[in-house]
Amino acid sequence: PDEPLVLGIETSCDETGVGIVRGHTLLADALASSVDQHARFGGVVPEVASRAHLEAIVPTMQRALDEAKVTLADLDAIAVTSGPGLAGALLVGVAAAKGYALAAEKPIYGVNHLAAHVAVDTLEHGPLPEPAVAMLVSGGHSSLLLVDDLTNGVTPLGATIDDAAGEAFDKVARLLGLGFPGGPLIDRAAREGDPAAIAFPRGLTAPKDQAAHRFDFSFSGLKTAVARWVEARERAGEKVPVPDVSASFQEAVCDVLTAKAIDACRTHGVQTLVIGGGVAANSRLRVLAEQRAEKHGIEVRVPRPQLCTDNGAMVAALGSRLVAAGVAPSHLDLPADSAMAL
Ligand code: KG4
Ligand code: ZN
Repeated sequence: PDEPLVLGIETSCDETGVGIVRGHTLLADALASSVDQHARFGGVVPEVASRAHLEAIVPTMQRALDEAKVTLADLDAIAVTSGPGLAGALLVGVAAAKGYALAAEKPIYGVNHLAAHVAVDTLEHGPLPEPAVAMLVSGGHSSLLLVDDLTNGVTPLGATIDDAAGEAFDKVARLLGLGFPGGPLIDRAAREGDPAAIAFPRGLTAPKDQAAHRFDFSFSGLKTAVARWVEARERAGEKVPVPDVSASFQEAVCDVLTAKAIDACRTHGVQTLVIGGGVAANSRLRVLAEQRAEKHGIEVRVPRPQLCTDNGAMVAALGSRLVAAGVAPSHLDLPADSAMAL
């Protein structure tokens, strides 16, 4: 069918998501998050996440079907994130998808979480012009991808060599005493601060890094620089200017991300940049990407924040593209693959 009705299940990290799309149209996006249960640990605890998925998957499934006003029998296919992600968390989604697919006699599509983050944009902005460059920035990954064909040809251009961008936001927020998850809290604190107050380092942007790491990222040096700067103030008995540190840190991250993304577009003659993942919700990243892209006639597509963070709709969106392109479904012995490559 041209406008396949597809249900997507996402359980790779701490969000249990079930989304339903028809073609490029979002019909339902039900979400249950265990983020509050991880807050006191300052990061996602895999065992806690798996247990939360187990409790949430059936009610979230039901909510999505109710919201879309469809039944399992109406579906053309069920898609599920089969990797990469937390092994135990992925298993819950994959097992659930198999159960529903078997019971309703529907084809099942195991999809890549990163490709799904790219595909979700089609729900907001329609078909993706290809080739495109995608930048995925979240708590678990920071990657630049060349998208020749969403349903079969996504090529990694570069990735973080240490911390993910969201991880850096979370770690810096923790050392500033802001809480978890740190991204939105730093984003908010930065609004009152001066992005030029402190010159924090820009990882892998030196001329010597151009050859081997042109499209790679590094954020652990930045995180350490922030920690040292804060410690020095504390040792001197001075108050830490949280808004200035937040704004200057955020500027360093967004500067590197946007510069490398635009460089990737120009190098590959690409006119469309899609940004996804939780960090794409960052207000400064959006503005800076737009500003820099405009100078080179590049269109920036960023889905609304709710679709940038992990959700089931993104999995359904990719599933819908796969069905429409006539791609063969996965087998019912589909594994959960925590280190799945693109
Ligand atoms: O995509 P996502 O929901 O989950 C992963 O797959 O990791 O991304 C979560 C990450 C967290 O690190 C969170 O701090 C970050 O996205 N994040 C943000 C913002 N909102 C969420 N980072 C910067 N600015 C934001 N506004
Ligand atoms: Zn994600």
